[in-house]
Parts: sequence; C-alpha cells; structure tokens
Amino acid sequence: MSFPQQRLRRLRGSEAFRSMVQETRPNVTDLIYPLFVVEGSRTLEPIPSMPGISRFSPDRLPEEVQEIAALGLRAVLLFGIPAAKDATGSSAWRPDGVVQQAIRVIKKEAPELVVITDVCLCEYTSHGHCGVVRGREVDNDATLELLSRMALSHAEAGADMVAPSDMMDGRVQAIRNSLDRAGLTRVPIMSYAAKFASAFYGPFRDAAQSAPEFGDRRSYQMDPHNRREALREIALDIEEGADIVMVKPALAYLDILREARDSFLHPLAAYNVSGEYAMVKAAAARGWIDGEQAAEEILIAIRRAGADLILTYFAKEMARRWKR
Ligand code: PBG
Repeated sequence: MSFPQQRLRRLRGSEAFRSMVQETRPNVTDLIYPLFVVEGSRTLEPIPSMPGISRFSPDRLPEEVQEIAALGLRAVLLFGIPAAKDATGSSAWRPDGVVQQAIRVIKKEAPELVVITDVCLCEYTSHGHCGVVRGREVDNDATLELLSRMALSHAEAGADMVAPSDMMDGRVQAIRNSLDRAGLTRVPIMSYAAKFASAFYGPFRDAAQSAPEFGDRRSYQMDPHNRREALREIALDIEEGADIVMVKPALAYLDILREARDSFLHPLAAYNVSGEYAMVKAAAARGWIDGEQAAEEILIAIRRAGADLILTYFAKEMARRWKR
C-alpha cells in the first residue's frame, strides 16, 4: 500500500494522537544535575559562561538541593573546587574536602537524592591535568592509586555512586578493588567510558578552574575521529566492573551513543556538556532561537540515540517545563 491510502499525517492530526504515537518519552527521572561546590562559606557565584548555573559553598547547598528534589530530579553530580591545589591534587581525598562536606550536607538535607561524585584530579592539581605529571607526561599507573583514594573518600563520606572522568587506563578496576576492599561493595561506578578530547568543555573549565596549565588532554581523552575505539573503551570499562557507562560529549557523538546502545546491555548515560549548554543559552539570549525548546529537542535527540540517563545543566529548567 502506498499513497493515497498510506498517509502518515493521519496520526499527527491532534495532540492526543501525537502523544499516543510518541516513541521517545523524556522524563525528569532520566536527568542528572551537575553541581559545582566551592570551598568556603556564604558563596553563591554565578558562572558567566553558563547562565543560570552557579558555584555553591557547602553551606549554601541546602536550599538548592531541596529545590532540586522538589522538582522531581533524582540525582546530582558533584564537582569540587578546592581552596588549595598541589601537584598530586591531595585535597581531593581529604575527609573534610569540599566534596566530602557537600555530600554530608546533601545527604542530610535531601536524603532521597542520589549523590554522584566526579572522580578526577584536574580540579585539584596545580597543573590542571587529570593525573600525576612526570616531566610533561601524565603517568597513568601512578594516577590510579590517587583516583582510588579519592573515590574511596567520597564513598566513605556517603556518596551513592562514583563517576571517574579522568580517562586513565585501568581506573575502573582500581576503584572497584579499593571500594570492595573497604567493604563498599554496594557503591556503583558510573564510568566516563568514551570521553573525547573536546572543545565543548570550554565553559566547564572556567567554572571548575581546571584548564591544563600546559598542553592539552589528548594523551588521555579520546580522539573525536574514532568510533571503534570508543566501543573498545566502553567494553573495557564494563569488563573492569563499570555499572553504568557514559559517552561524553553527547551532541556531536550521537552515533556513538546509538552504537553503544546496540552493542551493550549496561545502562547508558550521556553528558550534555557545558559547551552544548552555553551555545543554546548564548543564541537564546540574542533571540536567535527559543532556548527551552532547543534544549528539549537536544535532550530528546540524546534519548532517541539510546541514552538512558542524561547529565545536563538544563535539568532544572526541563523539570519545570515538563511539570507545566
Ligand atoms: C573533569 C571533567 C570535565 C568535564 C567533566 N569532568 C572537564 C575536562 O575533562 O576537561 C566536562 C563537563 C562539561 O563540560 O560540562 N575531567
């Protein structure tokens, strides 16, 4: 059968029909909201390159996390901005570090929120690289021990899940082993499995003060040209014990998401990163696009490509939009 019997417009004729045949249903429970926590007190600093997003000191979190929970969001992802940085990023595993403090505040104020922590040294090291630097190289194996300490310290402070974003080889296995040895077998790992060296992290590096002092991250983050390698990265993280695997960034990597969805059974997350957020905000501020609608369309595309979960700075905005 073909035209004129076949008419796809029949099921587009009313809102009711359209909603009945809608294939992708994005939901507030798919979204994870990133939060930047800065050491100190009474601080709530807006981030200029990410309109609507701020850095919070731990004492300013209660109101924010209650709002997040009230909107129906299930989870937050914490990034820490410490007061002091050094060559090894040692403030990352201090029991009273900024993220550790934030975890305790959130678990007290909004116990139902799933608290996920980003595990990476770049915000904590004086050189801004994601691992230990020897000469001008990032030393993979020496970094594993430090990442494990950091993840363990987050879990001991009460984090519900840890999310390594450094891209060192073997880090999922190292973190899994150290959590298990400490009896924290219940804490899952969401790995940034296929994380590409991307220009779309620009605003984040401002927000987290984590730009590398020399060079770039191309010796550990992935080359954007590579698709098969991304699948190998994901497969390895799964073998090492990742519970959820992530592709990052999302928008320029929808093909990777689709292929990962078709190739693996694990829950799949996508990170709708800072640059993707900033582009929408910048164009919307000029009146060039409808920002909310564009954001929603992007999130739909990410879900349609196969992501189960989306880490996004739009989470609060979308939660409000979908409530209306
Ligand atoms: C830390 C980290 C980065 C992001 C998440 N974790 C930055 C980077 O790798 O340079 C980027 C998030 C975003 O851009 O929203 N390694």
